[in-house]
Formats: sequence, structure tokens, C-alpha cells
Amino acid sequence: MDFPNKQLKTIARLEGTPVFVYSEAVIRRNVRRILGAADRYGLRERIGLYAAYFCNSNPHLFRIVREEGAGILLQTKEEYVQLQQAGVRGNMTVSPAVLSDDEIDFWVKQNIPVNLSSLEEVRYFISHHKEAPLSFRIDLTKEGKQRTAIKRYQLPAVAPHSFHVYAGTGSSCKKLLKNSREAFKIFQDFFPNVQHINLGGGFGFDYLANTADKKHFSWDQYFKGLKTQLEEYKIPKQVKIILEPGRDIFADAGRFLLSIKRIIAHRRNSKIATDGSYVYVPSSTIRKRQHRVHFFGQDFKEMKVSAKRGFLSGCTTLSSDYVFPGSIAVPEKISAGDFVFIEDMGAYAATQHMEFLNKKPCSEVLIKADGGVVRLTRRGDDNDKIRYLTNQPIQL
Ligand SMILES: Cc1ncc(COP(=O)(O)O)c(C=O)c1O
Repeated sequence: MDFPNKQLKTIARLEGTPVFVYSEAVIRRNVRRILGAADRYGLRERIGLYAAYFCNSNPHLFRIVREEGAGILLQTKEEYVQLQQAGVRGNMTVSPAVLSDDEIDFWVKQNIPVNLSSLEEVRYFISHHKEAPLSFRIDLTKEGKQRTAIKRYQLPAVAPHSFHVYAGTGSSCKKLLKNSREAFKIFQDFFPNVQHINLGGGFGFDYLANTADKKHFSWDQYFKGLKTQLEEYKIPKQVKIILEPGRDIFADAGRFLLSIKRIIAHRRNSKIATDGSYVYVPSSTIRKRQHRVHFFGQDFKEMKVSAKRGFLSGCTTLSSDYVFPGSIAVPEKISAGDFVFIEDMGAYAATQHMEFLNKKPCSEVLIKADGGVVRLTRRGDDNDKIRYLTNQPIQL
């Protein structure tokens, strides 16, 4: 049990709700699943794994990822500062959007490889940082539709240290392998001397599947395909393949615990009024995504769902405030004071908390591998929204 009832009971009593609950065991298992699959196909030494910081953004959890041998993918200076502040060091790489000259200077100064995303940036980089390793993102889409990335027709006549591609979040294994094939063709045709080929993130995750094996990206299938392609395109052994997964490492490592405030019964269904809100986890609503849900009584015994349907209502006045959209099966007997525990809220969830509607941020806790429970993030303050408000307007 990665989220044991005993620990949940303690969390509800001592920390209260709404609260994000993470499992150290699941984070470790998720990194090992990827590296283990790479190992099975003889690719362990060739794969550089960098977990996307922005998908969760809690430095304490990235310390665990580091311990498992993965690096960290950054995209803004703030992220670097946050990790420094928390004392999380180690291998990092940066895949941002458009960079100013100052930002390029910043990353070069830190000695962290950065994937540039336009010819304009490449020109600045070459003229100001001739000695630093050059890397840039290439748009592999047929139509050249990616917001940032150098288009195929623009490929510069330089010899980069590495290049980066990105297939888009939630991609299937088939799409990612099509993308890697395109990247390897670029290697052969244009940049046969690069040291790294960065294949980006975007590894799909199935939120409605009922086991971890079915939810997670099929790493065995992926590495099997990658191995074949590496041979087919004669990519030399010393060329490292960089991967930047976020969702696959964090999604099922976090869950969201809510309290039921009241059950509002209607003729056809009921509204389960919770202390949750879409503002805590907007991505589920934006992506029209449902999650698997568990219901617990006050004694933290799980309640079986019935034929009854209900909607998980949020706690703000916004008419569309559901924790996630659509109805779900609910237990026959459910009442105020019971709990809702939502699966797969570890990636693109707590970190997307919106200030809109003035709800303070949730706290975050971790169930450690030894069963202990620690708080990682304090619950926000009622005044959070106005924390930067000046006492009086200040003349500039
Ligand atoms: C460049 C880049 N790398 C990695 C990721 C992480 O993707 P995912 O969490 O879908 O694996 C993203 C997501 O937007 C990205 O833009």
C-alpha cells in the first residue's frame, strides 16, 4: 500500500484538508521503472534522464528523484534559484522558450546546458559564448507549427554539441518513436558530430486505467523501438540520449485528499460539496480529464461505490467549479465529514494552483518509504492573494 489508510487518517487529523499527499515509494519506483527498462535493452549507460521540475515544482520531491540517479530539467531562472535555495544540486539541463541575451548569459555562467529555440538566440550564443556547448531545439512537425524551435528550413550551418526535439505532452509510444526516428534522420543528415540527442518529454499516462502498469507509459516498448532505431541510424555508442519525462514520474506519486462538506441531493444525482476546487488542480478541467476516486468514512475505511452518480463540487462561487468535470459513481451512503481521495494528482496539479477566487494554497505532505509522514509545504495564508499589496500606493 503506497497510501495506507493509517497514514491518511493521521494526515486528515493533523494536517487537515485539502491536502496533496505524495508517496516516496512511488516516486522511486517510477524512476526505477524507466531506468530498469533502459537497462533491459542495454541502454542504461546511454540514457540521461532529467525529470521536468515544472510538472511538480516541490524541491523536496526532486531530492528523491536525484537520489534515484535522475537529473532535473529546468525552464526558468526561478526554478534554478528555488532548487539552490532548497539545497538540491546535481545534473541539470534547461529547455526553455525564448531567451533574452541576459538569460543566455545566465545559463552559460551557471555552466548548465541550455537548449536555444531560435536562430536569433543561436547567433547571439555563437558570437558571445564561442567556447560553451551549443544546443538548440528543432521543430520536427511537418508544418513547422511549434511555438518555439528552429524550423527544418532554418537549420544553421554549425556543429552543435547537442540538439533537442519535443513531441508534445501525453504522446503515445508510437508518436514518440516516430519523433525519435525523425531526430535520428536529422543526426545523420545534418549533425553527425553531436554528443547528445535530447528527445524531450511528453510520455503519455492513462489516468483512467486501474493498475500502475496500465497507467504508465510503455517504457519497454519504447526502449525496444529506440534500440532498433539507434542501430538502424548507426548512432555511435558515445552519443547520449536525453529524456525529459515529468508526468510519468510524478502523476501517480501524488493524490489529493478532500473533505466532504455536505451532500446536496437532487432528483437524478447529487452534488458532493467538497473543500476542493478546480483552482487547486486546473489542469483536469482544462484537459477535460476525470480521475479515479476513493471514498473514505470518518474512520478511514474505504466505502464501495454504488450505481448512484454524483458530481465533485468545488468550494467557490464559480458556476463551473467542479474538482474535475463530469459525474462519477459514489457510495450509497455518504455524508458530510467523509473523505474523497483522488488518484494521479502528482503532476501538473498542486503546482498549477490559481490565485483566482482567493483560495489559499493547499499543504503538501509526503508518506516516506518508512511510513513516516512529513509536511513539505505549509498551507497558505488567508492573505496570500494580497501578500505583495503595498500599504499605500507608492509613487514611482
Ligand atoms: C520541453 C519539455 N520537456 C519535457 C516536458 C515534460 O513533459 P511530460 O510531463 O509530458 O513528460 C515538457 C512538457 O511540457 C516540455 O515542454
